[in-house]
Amino acid sequence: MPTVVIVGAQWGDEGKGKVVDFLTEKADVVARYQGGHNAGHTVVIGGEKFVLHLVPSGIFRQGKLCIIGGGTVVDPYCLIEEIEGIKANGIDVSGRLLLSKGAHLIMPYHMAIEQANEGAKKIGTTGRGIGPAYVDKASRSGLRVGDLLYPALFRERLQTNLRHITALLKAVYGVAPEGLSPDEIYEGYMRCAGTLGQYIADTDIVVNEAIDAGKNVLFEGAQGALLDIDHGTYPYVTSSSASAGGACTGLGVGPTKIDRVLGVVKAYTTRVGGGPFPTELRGPLGETLRERGGEYGATTGRPRRCGWLDFVGLRHSVRVNGFTGLAITKLDILDGIEEIKVCTAYRYKGELMTEFPKEAAVLEAVEPVYETIEGWQEGTTGLKDFEALPPSARRYIRTIAEMLGVPVHLISTGADRGSLIMLDGQFG
Ligand code: IMP
Repeated sequence: MPTVVIVGAQWGDEGKGKVVDFLTEKADVVARYQGGHNAGHTVVIGGEKFVLHLVPSGIFRQGKLCIIGGGTVVDPYCLIEEIEGIKANGIDVSGRLLLSKGAHLIMPYHMAIEQANEGAKKIGTTGRGIGPAYVDKASRSGLRVGDLLYPALFRERLQTNLRHITALLKAVYGVAPEGLSPDEIYEGYMRCAGTLGQYIADTDIVVNEAIDAGKNVLFEGAQGALLDIDHGTYPYVTSSSASAGGACTGLGVGPTKIDRVLGVVKAYTTRVGGGPFPTELRGPLGETLRERGGEYGATTGRPRRCGWLDFVGLRHSVRVNGFTGLAITKLDILDGIEEIKVCTAYRYKGELMTEFPKEAAVLEAVEPVYETIEGWQEGTTGLKDFEALPPSARRYIRTIAEMLGVPVHLISTGADRGSLIMLDGQFG
């Protein structure tokens, strides 16, 4: 397992945290490449649930180096709180966690802009200032983690940004922002710098040195490929490159150094926030999946929209990520459902459509074309052996591999660390 990128193949919440946690056993370094604390990665260890937002889930395995890469956006207060929470669970992070100098800082004014803006856009964001922080990055006015090490410059640029943003909020949104005192923000961020200073590093050097030394490196994506700023259901997307390519830009690693790309596919589909979702189940079956799958946002607690597996969206995901293997998660949530549907194409204005449309308005208007697969009545929770799965569950897994043309390496059969089937020993 030399270098592997782990990507959510759908709209996030596929259960990447557990897959990363499992693979970390064999890894030396785990590096997160994009997103911010909009993500929520849940890991269940010995029945206890841990939710991480920014720190890679590899932190739960002793001796592994965890990196928050330059492609991420970081709210320093939230990161400190997360680190404190990890330490409070008896996990030693010292010398095991690095934060890239190139990661952009989420500032209090990003939250203010997002609140003002979201009313008009209805994206259903997590409200954490993620989008506006990436806007500043692209407009070259962002403040980065490395800037915390140069207080005078930091203060000056903060003041410039605040002047601009206060004027914008007033003129465009008619909002007089509160709590945006330059001195208070500056002092608060400098206090954070004092705490986080020990973690700040040139992480691109560290990651590349690890790869060159032949170490096993995992690249952890957040959200999912269908929320990718370029390849997702724009504008209903997050503001970063959640798909596999983001690992290269977000960590400063050349594409030639990536060996494998593992797509994490939930056995059904969920989406949180606004945007098109052709296979959404709006009735009782959707509710059943939500309740059984615990489909509530790990970050915001919002109920997730639930639906059938969508091979049109997944084929697009396979293409833009170049998956070399799949991990299927939450298979056990489908236990006891008599008939399972899978979407193989869409119908749009009477025509059959087999490719994922680029326009959200088209995706909003398509009708899913389903095939029905026989379900299984037996419980699969906690199974560790493929042959122990009911025949229909095995057929379901094979259908996924065949429809996507990608081998399935892992199947998750429950929240706990051990509830996992390894199919071909690739990651054993
Ligand atoms: P933002 O990332 O907060 O800007 O939100 C943009 C969209 O991405 C919204 O629909 C969010 O619900 C969604 N989103 C952001 N992070 C996650 C995640 O970790 N899982 C699932 N959806 C997410």
